[in-house]
Amino acid sequence: MLNRIKELGEQFHHDVVDLRRHFHAHPEVAWNEVETTKKVAEVLKGMGCENIRTGFGGTECGLTAEIKGSKPGPCVALRADMDALPIMEENDVPYKSVNDGAMHACGHDSHTAMLLGVAMVLNEIKDELPGKVRLIFQPAEEHGLNSGADNMTREGVLEGVDVICGLHVWSPLKSGTIAYRVGPMMASCDAWEAVIRGKGGHGSAPHMAVDPTIAAADIISSLQTVVGREVDPMEAAVISTGKMEAGSAFNIIPERVSLLGTTRSFVPEVQDMVENSIGRVIHGICQAFQCTAEYKYTRYVPSTINDREASLIVKELGEELFGPEKVEEAVLVMGAEDFSYFQRKIPGAFFFLGCGNPEKGTDKPHHSPTFNVDEDVLSTGVAMLAGFAWKYMTSKN
Ligand code: NI
Repeated sequence: MLNRIKELGEQFHHDVVDLRRHFHAHPEVAWNEVETTKKVAEVLKGMGCENIRTGFGGTECGLTAEIKGSKPGPCVALRADMDALPIMEENDVPYKSVNDGAMHACGHDSHTAMLLGVAMVLNEIKDELPGKVRLIFQPAEEHGLNSGADNMTREGVLEGVDVICGLHVWSPLKSGTIAYRVGPMMASCDAWEAVIRGKGGHGSAPHMAVDPTIAAADIISSLQTVVGREVDPMEAAVISTGKMEAGSAFNIIPERVSLLGTTRSFVPEVQDMVENSIGRVIHGICQAFQCTAEYKYTRYVPSTINDREASLIVKELGEELFGPEKVEEAVLVMGAEDFSYFQRKIPGAFFFLGCGNPEKGTDKPHHSPTFNVDEDVLSTGVAMLAGFAWKYMTSKN
């Protein structure tokens, strides 16, 4: 059956490429994927897909649909994200973005098209499918707080689902490479904020004031010791200060300084520790410098932590379909991926599909105005996702 799935993936390749180009030309940014959702619904209805549900997070965006096999069995969810980015496209291609200021610069157009290809493949073999597949077309992956996966999970898209699988095309990896990983794979993304208050005064009379800029400067440097001295060297974390605001003129000691930054980590223990340590450093330094501080830490996106069994299915499947030379262990990535919201509810596997080919210019960084996807890998992604559903179901029956 896996070979049949692979053949079907190749058979529908041109349909998937056409769909990808359609989505690429008509990008919609997070929580605006109205036309994209309509197009997905139209294609699925044309195939006779069941239980189509649209509209999540109080919008018209997002869709789930089901393909039921003729035999009972587990329910496998497969997910694609659909949002574009607020970037002006610089690629000179026939399917260039027609929506000014929006661009599929992360490859979510290809994810959406591949999941539609998966629906085409599974529709052909549904009589033999021992279980059902729920297709999740998700809006707003790039939204940070209040993302698409967060909303869809809260709105029940995983009810009755046993396992979930998703992929991301990945330009740093050679085209066709399948990169799986057991355990943590992508980082959590959080934000921290501090307001440091002193006592304003004349720049010539610091003894009459309490200067919050000194405390802020000390805090910014000392926060790096949390990563350097408190986090286990075998673990990883990032603390960055992205924004600082203070003062109004050269001869005034300001009343307050505000700081804003982000943190990244892979395991929840490190994330908890970083949150607490940043607060301790801020309050401790403020006390030493006679300032006061307000500290706020907001968790944006949890880390992507892959289930062992599900990830090993991805590994074995990739080896069976495309050969062991195409499969490798993914390196840890400090970027975040809101697929993690699904994984907090049920076991899940997220993997990278290499789409980088320097000869085709598809090795540009994600989120850059010249990002593009090697379309030859789309049939690989289709076969991997459809194959995952088959392999999981048959392992449970
Ligand atoms: Ni992305």
